[in-house]
Amino acid sequence: MKILITGGAGFIASHIADEYINLGHEVFILDNLSTGFEGNINSKATFINLDICDKSLTELFEVQKFDVVNHHAAQMDVRKSVADPTFDANTNIIGTINLLQNAVKTGVKKFIFSSTGGAVYGEQEYFPADEQHPTSPLSPYGISKLTVEKYLFFYNKQYGLNYSILRYANIYGPRQNPFGEAGVIAIFTSKLLAGEQPIINGEGTQTRDYVFVKDVVNANVKVLKDEIPDIMNVGTGIETNVNEIFNTLNKIINNGQVEKHGPSAPGEQLRSVITSDKFYKRFNWKPTTKLTDGLRETVIFFESKLVK
Ligand SMILES: NC(=O)c1ccc[n+]([C@@H]2O[C@H](COP(=O)([O-])OP(=O)(O)OC[C@H]3O[C@@H](n4cnc5c(N)ncnc54)[C@H](O)[C@@H]3O)[C@@H](O)[C@H]2O)c1
Repeated sequence: MKILITGGAGFIASHIADEYINLGHEVFILDNLSTGFEGNINSKATFINLDICDKSLTELFEVQKFDVVNHHAAQMDVRKSVADPTFDANTNIIGTINLLQNAVKTGVKKFIFSSTGGAVYGEQEYFPADEQHPTSPLSPYGISKLTVEKYLFFYNKQYGLNYSILRYANIYGPRQNPFGEAGVIAIFTSKLLAGEQPIINGEGTQTRDYVFVKDVVNANVKVLKDEIPDIMNVGTGIETNVNEIFNTLNKIINNGQVEKHGPSAPGEQLRSVITSDKFYKRFNWKPTTKLTDGLRETVIFFESKLVK
């Protein structure tokens, strides 16, 4: 299949691109390199350095006639979305509509969308959240992801565009950017390896559902040919708190650091964990990477970057 992957110079989608290429698909990567890196781009992919909001997307879609769009490009910083909701909405909503309009005009059959199980549910009413959990996003980022889900429903009803919406838990692994606000594992790993002291926000008892990027790649492979438009969680169903993350990484890296706490981050969600039972029932898929194994692989990757 001919697949356009947006955000393919970034963390998650660069791994998806690698696997789609391994499986023999023809992959195009669209990315404006705002948070992604050219070094993440598979050399067998065709790279288009462009913003998803750019009007010249039309020409690209008309010429290439993609079968599938796998959409991962986004403004994905929750705090930035609060500080500048217009920028967030412009990229995440208007940019996605630009892709969707071109997709339906040029006969794209399938649209895969990276949503978020952390931000669309908001502070959870029950644990783990399934797809029926009320959606009460607490940030413009969560609102923009949920809005795109609604647009996909519309594009399916109006134009028959097939979609898979994947509501991700907290993804971690090689290539995650340690310089952003998000991604506690990447941030702690790079600090510990550099012999610097990571600071845990507040008591460190806030929990997340951490899923390894390679498991997420497999989920993106499973939905590639799915003909049923659907919304599915992609997570482990396991809650881990920040102190546990710090202590496991600290043991692996063993650089003599101790647990240190700072002030809590205002508005930080307390608990987040999602169930992927629906995905499992439909595709016989669940994450297989244990947290300690995923963390080890992540540390090895960051160490290799230090050597270079
Ligand atoms: N990392 C997570 O835990 C997580 C959880 C839930 C959902 N997601 C979603 O997964 C997707 C990928 O996240 P990631 O962690 O790989 O982030 P990332 O920042 O590494 O990747 C995003 C990529 O999109 C590109 N991009 C941003 N704005 C663009 C624009 N306007 N036009 C073209 N390219 C643009 C960036 O340059 C980058 O390469 C995002 O949509 C994010 O919201 C991530």
